[in-house]
Formats: sequence, structure tokens, C-alpha cells
Amino acid sequence: MTGRREVLPDPDAVARAAAGRLVAVAGAKAGRVGICLSGGSTPKLLYRLLAGPEFRDRLPWGRLHWFFGDERVGDRPEAGSNRRLAEEAFGDLVPDGHLHPIPTDRTPQACAEAYASALQTWYGADRLAPARPLFDLVLLGLGEDGHTASLFPGKPEAREGEAWVVAVPEAGLAPFVPRVSLTLPALAATPLMLFLVTGAGKRAPLARIASGEDLPAGHARARGETLWLLDEAAAG
Ligand code: 6PG
Repeated sequence: MTGRREVLPDPDAVARAAAGRLVAVAGAKAGRVGICLSGGSTPKLLYRLLAGPEFRDRLPWGRLHWFFGDERVGDRPEAGSNRRLAEEAFGDLVPDGHLHPIPTDRTPQACAEAYASALQTWYGADRLAPARPLFDLVLLGLGEDGHTASLFPGKPEAREGEAWVVAVPEAGLAPFVPRVSLTLPALAATPLMLFLVTGAGKRAPLARIASGEDLPAGHARARGETLWLLDEAAAG
């Protein structure tokens, strides 16, 4: 596991720490701020905090742009939607054109190509320059199998070293629906990567990563700081 660990008492403390780092990132620069969101259930607390009375007015919503590290493709209800998670939490705090969802209305490959093009338009180039980040902050979660975003152990997409976005025809963990995922090089193009990991169910993948096992989440690292925000249940 690269980067630093911070162990906090509970999921609320993890979310508050992440919210504080997001406020700091947004306040440290002028102009637009690109935040890449993770999916799953862990970030729900963070999103509610950001939109809530304690943090809402500390964020420059007019300068924030929200992207997604991965998305479930198709309209099966069990698939869930990372876009919907953010939309429901942030509501009208996000100005039109500042939420940049991954399209899900075509084949996974077509969705991946469309999102890569959208990211290149945002970045202003089709090759990542070492000195210029794609995002100002990347949020990630950890699956119980050691995946992150939708980069699953043993699947070829986890080893993609060139493309920014890939189609993931077969998810390695439920929901078993096709996905679209940013790749490790795209996720790495940030000065700050925050993993939010809570619950005893994440103790095993954390231990496997710490032991050096070849798992996608263990290979995710920022150009700058990679910080694992764990609660005590996950840290063990
Ligand atoms: C997704 C996420 C995925 C998630 C982990 C952890 O779309 O599911 O991007 O990588 O972060 O699976 O999910 P939980 O937070 O629900 O445990």
C-alpha cells in the first residue's frame, strides 16, 4: 500500500476528514477545481456532509466540477448509479454543466470512448502531462476483493497503461453489470488521492494490500499524496 494511513474512530469521522481535505483543496486555488468521485455506498456520508449546513457554505460550488471514477452501465435497478448518488446528495448546489457523468446509454465501449473524449476536452489535451494534473482530488473506495473504481483483480482493465477510460464488460464483484472505469494512469493524475475505507469487511483487502498482494487498489497512487482514511473497524 502506498501512501499514508489515517485511522479515525468511525465512518462519520472518515467523512469529516475527507470533507475537510476537499474544502482545503478547493480553497487553495483560484479558478476551476476538478474532483473525481468514487461510487459505492461509503461516499454517501461524505456527500451528505458536503451538501449539509456545516460544509455547504465553505465550498466554492461555482468553481467545482465533479467527475466520476467509474459507473455502472445499463438501467437495471440493482446496478445502482454513482451519478445518481451525487445528484441526490448535491441537488441544485451544482451549477448546470458542472456535473460530468459517465454516459451509460450506449455500449460500455462507446461510453468509455465518450467519457475519455470529455476528459480530454476538460484537460485540453489527449496526453497527460507529468506536470499538469487531470484532477485536483481523486476519491476512491476499496472493494472487499481489493478492487478500486471498477478495476478488478485479474481483469485486463486493471493493467491498462495508456487509455484514460476503459469498458469493463464483466465486473468482478456485485453488482455484476458492465461498468466503465477510469484507469490507474488517469486516476493517478492528481496531487491528492483519498481512499475512504470503512467497516470490518475491508480489513481483509487492506491486509492483503499491506502484504504486497497484487491488487488494483494497492497499485493506485497519486502523483502527489495518497492518503488512506480508515475507520477503526477497517483498520483492525
Ligand atoms: C463502485 C465504486 C467501487 C467502490 C467499492 C467500495 O462503483 O462500486 O466505485 O470501487 O468504491 O466497491 O464500495 P462500498 O463503498 O460500497 O463498499
